Amino acid sequence: MNVYDSARMAEVMAPHGYRAVASADQASLVILNTCHIREKAAEKIYSELGRLRRLKDARTAAGDEMMIAVGGCVAQAEGEEIWARAPWVDIVFGPQTYHRLAEMVAGARRREAVLDTEFPVEPKFDFLPRATGAAGFSEFLTIQEGCDKFCSFCVVPYTRGAEFSRPVADVLAEARALVARGAREVMLLGQNVNAYRGPDEDGAETSLGRLLFRLARLEGLERLRYTTSHPRDIHEAQLAAHRDVPEVMPYLHLPVQCGSDAILGAMNRGHTADDYRRTVARLRVARPDIALSSDFIVGFPGESDADFAATLALVRDVKFAQAYSFKYSPRPGTPAAMLRKQIPDADKKVRLAELQALLRAQQLMFNQSWRGREVPVLLERRGRREGQLVGRSPYMQAVHVAAPGSLLGAIVEVRIDTVGANSLAGHLLDPPVGVAAVERRADAA
Ligand code: 5AD
Ligand code: SF4
Repeated sequence: MNVYDSARMAEVMAPHGYRAVASADQASLVILNTCHIREKAAEKIYSELGRLRRLKDARTAAGDEMMIAVGGCVAQAEGEEIWARAPWVDIVFGPQTYHRLAEMVAGARRREAVLDTEFPVEPKFDFLPRATGAAGFSEFLTIQEGCDKFCSFCVVPYTRGAEFSRPVADVLAEARALVARGAREVMLLGQNVNAYRGPDEDGAETSLGRLLFRLARLEGLERLRYTTSHPRDIHEAQLAAHRDVPEVMPYLHLPVQCGSDAILGAMNRGHTADDYRRTVARLRVARPDIALSSDFIVGFPGESDADFAATLALVRDVKFAQAYSFKYSPRPGTPAAMLRKQIPDADKKVRLAELQALLRAQQLMFNQSWRGREVPVLLERRGRREGQLVGRSPYMQAVHVAAPGSLLGAIVEVRIDTVGANSLAGHLLDPPVGVAAVERRADAA
């Protein structure tokens, strides 16, 4: 979502004469769009701000303007404290106010200390300019923000605020505009995207599942993905979309965090490990080939060896195609940070290594099951090697293939020859199926 937000910030500033540049040394405004989810992410900001200070001093001495803004969730959480540690910062703003960035820059130019970490009543989406120019072949689209779940370890409900869903008509309009600018795949974003309940044209609440059905009808939109879903908010229409809508890709990121019921309870996740197993079973009935991804936290306060063993057991049962895993990081202001029985870092490290070895083996096994088979690949960009393009399979695997640049943006059938844990490589089937689609688009233009 920070990638999506950063692109919007660039669009907000474009009418004011700003354009994106390749590096901070050429910039008159540097925005750090920050993440507060774990301590490591948050601390990175201050080392980066130290580097930018030297750059700003040098630029100011040379008579150039260089403003520094800190946006995103660290700014939201720490507000004025940022100035205590980095007084050379000009602007501090949260994730819900970046539509006002141009006014903030004007304020900073008048040498005001600009702090805007409100949750305004007007949703920022209503004030964002319409993007122009070519889009990527796969683009993000935020449909929902914030979270009401209050997992005991998580800062999101405090930094991103309460759940908010954009109206269906706005989502459809943004998707239509992306397709008109060249996108073929859209990844819907939200902190808890399957809690989406945006109003439709008649004001009726619409679920994510129903929204997927509507989006799939847009001409030229070939692939739909969405992230992140909460296991408790899986609903019938979402299952039906995976079963009945070919545009909805057979891949789901469904964080479980851990496999112990005691820890799931302490995390305030609102479900047990067996509830998760049952949800996975329902998903696999709806779409037997669905690839599953997840997030895990090891070393949550009080996690015993038996709790951790339950996590490994859940992973063995479910078999993930991909996953992210983290050491528990106490976050200021969250209930879990106050719990006694914090786990020593050395133990977290051992558990993380064991979990990651298992997850990596599962990822490799999933990828190996594709050797020799055909997959449709949306070719998104050029590879590092000459004559090579890179795209994604329906299951989110990166696929490398020798193909002419004219096929960028096409969905082509690829036979998989070699596989690794992180990517696949294959060759085009003859003739590439995607060419017809490209020619049709050229005619339409
Ligand atoms: N410590 C470690 N990992 C965390 N996550 C969220 N909060 C924390 C924390 N305090 C992880 C969860 C979540 C993902 C986005 O980040 O696994 O799903
Ligand atoms: Fe954080 Fe996700 Fe829990 Fe919401 S559902 S509080 S975003 S971990």
